[in-house]
Amino acid sequence: MAIKMIPFSVCILCLSLNFRLAVAVCNIPSIYHGDWYSQEAGVDVKTNVAFDKWRRDSVPQEQLECISIYTHPQQSSIIGGMNSSMVNTTMLMGIFGETDVNKCYYCIDVLYRTPNIIQYKRQDCIRLNSGKPITIDKSCRGITEGLPTMDNAITMFRRSVVKLNCITTIEGVYQFSYEVGGPTSLGGICNEPRSRIEACQDPGSAYVDNRMFLMNYAKCRDVSTSVDQQIRYQCMGAWYAVKNNVGYTFAAVADTVEADERERFKCMMTLKDQKDPNNQVRWVMSRFPSCTSLNSIYDGDRKLVLTRVIPTTNYLPPQCVLPRNMSGTWFTQGQQFKSDVFINETHIAYKTKINEFELLETYYSCQQTQGTRYMMTRVTAGRCEVDFVCFDLVGKPSRLSDEDTGNFMVKKFRETCSWMSFTYNRDEYHLPE
Ligand SMILES: *[C@@H]1O[C@H](CO)[C@@H](O)[C@H](O)[C@H]1NC(C)=O
Ligand SMILES: *[C@@H]1O[C@H](CO)[C@@H](O)[C@H](O)[C@H]1NC(C)=O
Ligand SMILES: *[C@@H]1O[C@H](CO)[C@@H](O)[C@H](O)[C@H]1NC(C)=O
Ligand SMILES: *[C@@H]1O[C@H](CO)[C@@H](O)[C@H](O)[C@H]1NC(C)=O
Repeated sequence: MAIKMIPFSVCILCLSLNFRLAVAVCNIPSIYHGDWYSQEAGVDVKTNVAFDKWRRDSVPQEQLECISIYTHPQQSSIIGGMNSSMVNTTMLMGIFGETDVNKCYYCIDVLYRTPNIIQYKRQDCIRLNSGKPITIDKSCRGITEGLPTMDNAITMFRRSVVKLNCITTIEGVYQFSYEVGGPTSLGGICNEPRSRIEACQDPGSAYVDNRMFLMNYAKCRDVSTSVDQQIRYQCMGAWYAVKNNVGYTFAAVADTVEADERERFKCMMTLKDQKDPNNQVRWVMSRFPSCTSLNSIYDGDRKLVLTRVIPTTNYLPPQCVLPRNMSGTWFTQGQQFKSDVFINETHIAYKTKINEFELLETYYSCQQTQGTRYMMTRVTAGRCEVDFVCFDLVGKPSRLSDEDTGNFMVKKFRETCSWMSFTYNRDEYHLPE
């Protein structure tokens, strides 16, 4: 709905126009409704968005009323599914209750990012006496010039976080190194094996559907900025956005125990397919609730380098032994990739190079045997799951060959038997479906 505005020179019309504007309200999309926190020029700002009002609760308080709204065509940049209510908009707003003919009108652009994150930009005050009529189509730059970017929009964090699955943000088990302090950091990098991230769907825990992940920071003796600290973060969703001509994955998280909102919310950023030669994943994290300090995966307040590690599990210690004649180093051509296979009395380890940058490391640990069948636990570096698989190790040594002889291990051991034939208690061991 665009309201035609008339130049102020026609004064009687002006007054009636103001009357019209006061009643001609528009509906702010319900997906924006709620209480938000943002940090604007270093100041904490709390905003309430309701049916037709955009109210700043922080000082200086202010209440804007929606006059006209434009919904931008939907473009998918949302990670984890979009529906028709997830829209970017440009809204023309006026100060509620203001009757001055020279009152300010504002254009507000809103980018919908996740159910917990919106970003907005407010254009400077526009007054009727500027000589031009005010219309959303002509006065609002969000329409004439396009929506704001990651750099010039303010990020708003929903204060009552809507529960979301972390899968779109982070999943897996990692060791990480961290460096605190942005580009001018003097503290150095803290790389401790005890620093770990666990982002798992853990059926045994209270966090059934992976709405949180654990970051365990370990202190390095020689790094003054390092700390011993465990933080559980709640995931606020992830989205794609372009920054400096590069498309990044952004995510927001909330510390589950921190009450100070300035410390509670963080913005994170990573790049998909980083093609890191060491099979690592880089993230940057903001110090404060804002995304603007994250410039690249090498430039942010807190730089994290994640390395995939084996999940902690009770099933890894072997309970049985494999036939001795299988021990050795083998290699095999799977359906797609070649693997190096190391077998000892208790474990089978597969190392598969998926491409120049990605190495998949899978370990099997013997748990029970029955004749030629072996039930083994399987874990993969960086992944949460512990699977139970069953191998039937029948066959002749001729099927396997040593790397030296140049022959392939013809078949991967067939995962033929079912774990159900073993006496494991499903409940006791949380066997996967
Ligand atoms: C909102 O705008 C941004 C920036 O132009 C775009 O990347 C995103 O896909 C848009 N979102 C929707 C829901 O259309
Ligand atoms: C769209 O998704 C949002 C956030 O998950 C939800 O609140 C809303 O009800 C959904 N709307 C529709 C029309 O499905
Ligand atoms: C067998 O291999 C596993 C995995 O590579 C290793 O952790 C374990 O120590 C090895 N066991 C022996 C007896 O060498
Ligand atoms: C290993 O030795 C056992 C006998 O101890 C034999 O039955 C089996 O076929 C051999 N397997 C392999 C893979 O060599």
